[in-house]
Amino acid sequence: MEPELSPFLFGRTVSDHGFTNREQDLDKLYKNLTQGINTMLISPRRWGKSSLVEKLILELKSKNPEIKVVNLDLFSVSSEEEFLEMFAREVIKASSSVWQEWIQSAKDFFKQLTPVLTVGVDPVNDFSLGFDWNQLKKHRSEILDLPEKLAKDKNCRFIICLDEFQNLATFHQFEFLEKSMRAIWQRQKSVSYCLYGSKRHMMTDIFDNPSKPFYRFGDIMLLQKIKREKWISFIVESFANTKKEISPDLAELIPELMQDHSWYVQQLAHYTWQKTKRKVTKNEVQFAFSELINTNSPLYMREVEGLSATQFNFLKAVAKKEDKLSSMEILLKYRLGTSANVVKNKSILLKADIIDEFNGKLAFLDPAFEYWFVQQFFRQEKII
Ligand SMILES: Nc1ncnc2c1ncn2[C@@H]1O[C@H](COP(=O)(O)OP(=O)(O)O)[C@@H](O)[C@H]1O
Ligand SMILES: [Mg+2]
Repeated sequence: MEPELSPFLFGRTVSDHGFTNREQDLDKLYKNLTQGINTMLISPRRWGKSSLVEKLILELKSKNPEIKVVNLDLFSVSSEEEFLEMFAREVIKASSSVWQEWIQSAKDFFKQLTPVLTVGVDPVNDFSLGFDWNQLKKHRSEILDLPEKLAKDKNCRFIICLDEFQNLATFHQFEFLEKSMRAIWQRQKSVSYCLYGSKRHMMTDIFDNPSKPFYRFGDIMLLQKIKREKWISFIVESFANTKKEISPDLAELIPELMQDHSWYVQQLAHYTWQKTKRKVTKNEVQFAFSELINTNSPLYMREVEGLSATQFNFLKAVAKKEDKLSSMEILLKYRLGTSANVVKNKSILLKADIIDEFNGKLAFLDPAFEYWFVQQFFRQEKII
């Protein structure tokens, strides 16, 4: 008998199987982008941005197949040159389904730049453009304006989605690229951009800072977590669809433990599902929970190893829900250093997305990391 697929997925984007809720987010993003409004999508990592955009692209393909869509993940792109070459290649590829036309476009649409074309035996996967960096630096605008030129020529529209956009800000002399992108993209009539990313501080610094070029480039959407009720019905139904059973109470426990964090809800639901023969009891959830913490612990270990002693102590105080971190008593009790250290460490931990501030209170951003931390350093195991 073929093993059954888990109804719960994590570790990759979900857009079909496993995708739940987000109707309103999807609707807004869809309208914005098809109506010509650039949209920035920001949330901590693993809350569901890439999945949402993937879902959007599926919708576009079925409802508006005439719109050309480009979707690039900039996570592993490490230089401006690499980015521009990738951008040019993918825009050209999206502009036509006939590869001979790509070559024609690469020949016709560059005036100042002279691309070096490579086409392999399998042109669909083996097509690339190379540029001379000195030329590129002077004429990056030709690449940035390529979608608009192609759109005019082919009488079509483009939607361009760039994932982990903030990664560009780590490039040498990003300011030049940043200025050109903004100047050129804001004039384009036939192209909408969806720029999204997980490093919230970098993203807000790019898009919400009045002294930066991308200020007011479009609509900023702060993606929220999926609602508890939606998770509950998703979990109950997914169990039922695979001939297993979970009570609404136990189904609620899963998002509650994981604070509705998309990735972790799926991971905990999956382990629970895997451990269950027919009907879930608390035992399976408890085992699944321990498994989740154990599986992820190498990551958390690495996170802690990257901290200084006072940062680590700071996290201990946050884990203990202390609020007057700069008071003499707390400084001494947790060995936080001086109050200047506290201010600095807070800002570092916030920037690193390790902690977050909700209504003036500091808390861990990652719920499972917090459980692990408490278990590891205060010897307190979470009993469900
Ligand atoms: N709409 C959704 N419904 C159910 N699970 C989701 C949804 N969006 C995301 N997830 C879960 O969260 C995980 C991380 O999602 P992803 O889209 O990669 O987040 P991000 O791009 O924000 O880092 C996915 O692997 C999936 O398990
Ligand atoms: Mg992502």
